[in-house]
Amino acid sequence: MDDQLASSLGSLKCYWLEPADIMSKTAELKLEGKTYQLPVIEGSEKEQGIDISSLRSQTGHITIDDGYGNTGSCRSAITFIDGEKGILRYRGIPIEELADKSSFVEVAYLLIWGKLPTSEELRKFSELFTENELLHESMKHHFEGFPASAHPMAILSSMINATSCFYPELLSSDVKGHFKLDAVRLISQVRTIAAFAHRKSRGLPIIYPKPEYKYTANFLHMLFSVPYRDYELKPEVVRALDLIFLLHADHEQNCSTSTVRMVASSKANLFASAAAGVCALWGPLHGGANQAVLEMLDEIHQSGDDGSKFINAAKDKNSGKKLMGFGHRVYKNHDPRAKIIKKACDEVLEKLQVDDPLLSIAKKLEEAALKESYFVERKLYPNVDFYSGIIMRALGIPVEMFTVIFAIGRMPGWIANYKEVMEEPTRIYRPRQIYTGPTLNPYIPIKNRL
Ligand code: SDX
Repeated sequence: MDDQLASSLGSLKCYWLEPADIMSKTAELKLEGKTYQLPVIEGSEKEQGIDISSLRSQTGHITIDDGYGNTGSCRSAITFIDGEKGILRYRGIPIEELADKSSFVEVAYLLIWGKLPTSEELRKFSELFTENELLHESMKHHFEGFPASAHPMAILSSMINATSCFYPELLSSDVKGHFKLDAVRLISQVRTIAAFAHRKSRGLPIIYPKPEYKYTANFLHMLFSVPYRDYELKPEVVRALDLIFLLHADHEQNCSTSTVRMVASSKANLFASAAAGVCALWGPLHGGANQAVLEMLDEIHQSGDDGSKFINAAKDKNSGKKLMGFGHRVYKNHDPRAKIIKKACDEVLEKLQVDDPLLSIAKKLEEAALKESYFVERKLYPNVDFYSGIIMRALGIPVEMFTVIFAIGRMPGWIANYKEVMEEPTRIYRPRQIYTGPTLNPYIPIKNRL
């Protein structure tokens, strides 16, 4: 803390105990001549957190933390990220192993119930998806009300919330009761809602799911089949999309998951919490980045730029441009998901014999950016969104559906976090603030106003 700031704050100084002392699990805070002890908690991966739950009652002070970069909102046992080492694990299992050996439905079970399912558990879980894949038939009419130009993320959030109008039992937040059915219904039907939204936007008749198809195959069938011919389900396409869903399934306390937990903390129902998560995910700084990356790559391609102009613009704060798909609040090393998706890009495009100029532009952009001191000093690496759009484009998914695909993938993570909030003694999320508005002043009658 610099001297000027210190003097303006009076005698506010913080002494941090030496690492050896942290094991005594307290942090010492000296404030206005008094000394306070704050407990330090340690997670299973040795992360340390200073518990400030009693800070205001002890000191009359709160903390401020722009963007919550240093603030833990909860304890969670679902996903672990080590941003410095580029580590991502779902319930302790490395994302690289899950990407290589698991499936989206199996990972959904793992995230929500904390263990890999037995073959019987997985069979029953998968069957529940089939039994709950149809929307309430009356919901179909709502799609008629949306204009063809409606963004599918708007449709998704509204139709997820609308579901509880047709199934009033979903209004309960009791995770001990019918939670498993609610969770399965949400994961299964988010796929159906997304497919119906796409079909409506193209003026196509909706295609119902087929009971013989598994999760991802059924989604592709509902997206791309036509009444006179079923979509040809190529194994490499189904596997690639399943991998995209799996890699997006959870990511600890990101913006949308924190939103789901915030809404859940008021004891709102699962569908309302998930609909709020969809809205938070939509932003171009978050899940909307995959669509923004494709638009950026296409802009570079159309302009004939080799990427250098765009990189210079992204470094210039006044340009209003960012290198979309780059940077991350937590990863200060490569996003492990980006590495997996980049490898899958090459494999899928080769198998499908797709030669997408945007892939080579993306690779050149990554190579160039990672040589630029601006990106290196700020530890900005490609994140999950940088290459995912290239694969989705190769699979024939329209760019406006990219963030919807992210939402379908993230649904199990949102549900697992919702369940954790309901099962833990969570207080309603209600942050404090430092007020900076006008101090006390009288009401002025309108005739006296200037
Ligand atoms: C996701 O949180 C999660 O886990 C999210 C996610 C998930 O799975 O849920 O991983 C999914 O949202 C991935 C991120 C997708 N968004 C983008 O790709 C958009 C582009 N990236 C940036 O907007 C940014 O990197 C964020 C939003 C991802 C992170 O923002 P932070 O942590 O608030 O970082 P910052 O804005 O404070 O950046 C620090 C510096 C700044 O420069 P200085 O003020 O230090 O000079 O880095 C610069 C920023 O201007 N910077 C960038 C940049 N990202 C950061 N400069 C140019 N291009 C970028 N992409």
